[in-house]
Parts: sequence; C-alpha cells; structure tokens
Amino acid sequence: MDVIEAISERKSIRGFKPDPVPKALLKEILETATRAPSALNSQPWEFAVITGSILDQIRAANIEKLNSGAPMSPDHVSALWPKESRYRERQVDLAKRIFSLMNIAREDREKRNAWQERGFRFFEAPVAIIVMADQVLTESAPLLDIGLVVENICLTAVAHGLGTCIEDQGIFYPEVIRNLADIPETKRLIISIAMGYPDTEFAANQLKTPREPVDQMTTWVGFS
Ligand SMILES: Cc1cc2nc3c(=O)[nH]c(=O)nc-3n(C[C@H](O)[C@H](O)[C@H](O)COP(=O)(O)O)c2cc1C
Repeated sequence: MDVIEAISERKSIRGFKPDPVPKALLKEILETATRAPSALNSQPWEFAVITGSILDQIRAANIEKLNSGAPMSPDHVSALWPKESRYRERQVDLAKRIFSLMNIAREDREKRNAWQERGFRFFEAPVAIIVMADQVLTESAPLLDIGLVVENICLTAVAHGLGTCIEDQGIFYPEVIRNLADIPETKRLIISIAMGYPDTEFAANQLKTPREPVDQMTTWVGFS
C-alpha cells in the first residue's frame, strides 16, 4: 500500500473484532511509526501498549469514574474551543453523523450515555496505545512531534489491515491508567489510540467524515 492510499483509507474505527493483535506486529508498527521526524531528533514520545486483563480493568475503572461523576482531569487538553465557532459546528456535525449511523435519537439519553461509555472503554478494542511525554518537556513543545508519530501509527496500522481511533476519552482519567498500567507521575499522558481489526459490520465504521475545500483554508501566494 502506498502512502497516499493509506492516508485516503484511514478513518476512525469505533468497532473492533475481538481478535488479539500480536505483540510482534505492534512492535513493528511502532518501529515504522517512530521514523517520524521530531525537533532536533528529540523523539519526545513514549508509549504504553496495553491489552488483556489490564485493559479490561482500565475500561471498568474508567466507567466507574464516569458514572460516579468524577471530574475529568486530563494531563493534556486537546479539544477546547468557543461555543460559537466553526470548530464547534463541525463537532456537532460529527456527532449527528455518528448518532444517525448508530440509530441514536437526540433525546435518547440512555443510548447517548452508552455511546459515551464506549469511548471510555476504548471502543472494546483489543489494544490501547497510550502516548506519553516526559514531564521535563513543556506541555506544548512536544505536541507537534507527537502528532506526527500518532498519524504514522494510524497509517502503518492501516497498511497492516488494522483500524484505529485516536481518542482523548481514553485518557480523561489519567490516574486510572497510571495506577493500573504502572505509569510513573513523571509521564504526561497526551493521547490514546484504540487499535484492532475493524468490525466491518459496525455501523459507525461506515462514516467517512467530510473535509473543507482546500481553497477555503489556503492562501495561495505568488501564483499566476
Ligand atoms: C486529538 C484527537 C482526539 C480525538 N478524540 C476522540 C475521542 O475522544 N472520541 C472519538 O470518538 N473520537 C476522537 N477522535 C477522532 C476524531 O473524531 C476524528 O479523527 C475526526 O472526526 C475525523 O474523522 P476520521 O478520523 O474518521 O477522518 C480524536 C481525534 C484526534 C485527532
């Protein structure tokens, strides 16, 4: 698969087959993905790759926190924008598309809650990758580099027939992951990636999200 195909095929996968992903394949994916460039080759990323009973315990503990109303306290906040903004409009559009595919009515609180819980359960993926940065780095400096490695992970996964969903929800309760996966306080949890073999029957996996036309976000300078 060439890189353009992988970029075009990648999309967020929110329903997975239960089949395990071999550790050797996950290692190969990380070896490929960490060819990503980084400022001064600083490679400011670290990973916890979690599967099996520990991941199940994390899912359960996340849901317990969520349902107890515990405040979410992510180490890093990635989605924050004004209510009246095009970013918010796109967020609402995404939710509408997912809920329509999943047959979740706007007023159906129970199904909406169940959908939210799904995110906190890593969409039942067999693997969760937690992407971290050392606390000696400032919070913002490594983010560009980490974005590059995260996309590389997702693209390499596609080339191996795997699906991914990059997700904030997985690390909204960082203390859950720290405790159960034994991650020291010195690591900042930046983002998580749910990974596994896509369940092609799962409705939300049909979603191909729209993009704005390039000319709307681009200023062409010096072209005739
Ligand atoms: C930083 C980041 C955080 C995200 N967090 C979540 C999340 O918590 N839950 C979720 O369902 N999707 C999450 N996503 C996936 C986005 O919703 C998705 O990438 C976007 O809608 C575009 O769709 P696509 O990935 O299918 O192209 C996240 C993506 C990124 C890049």
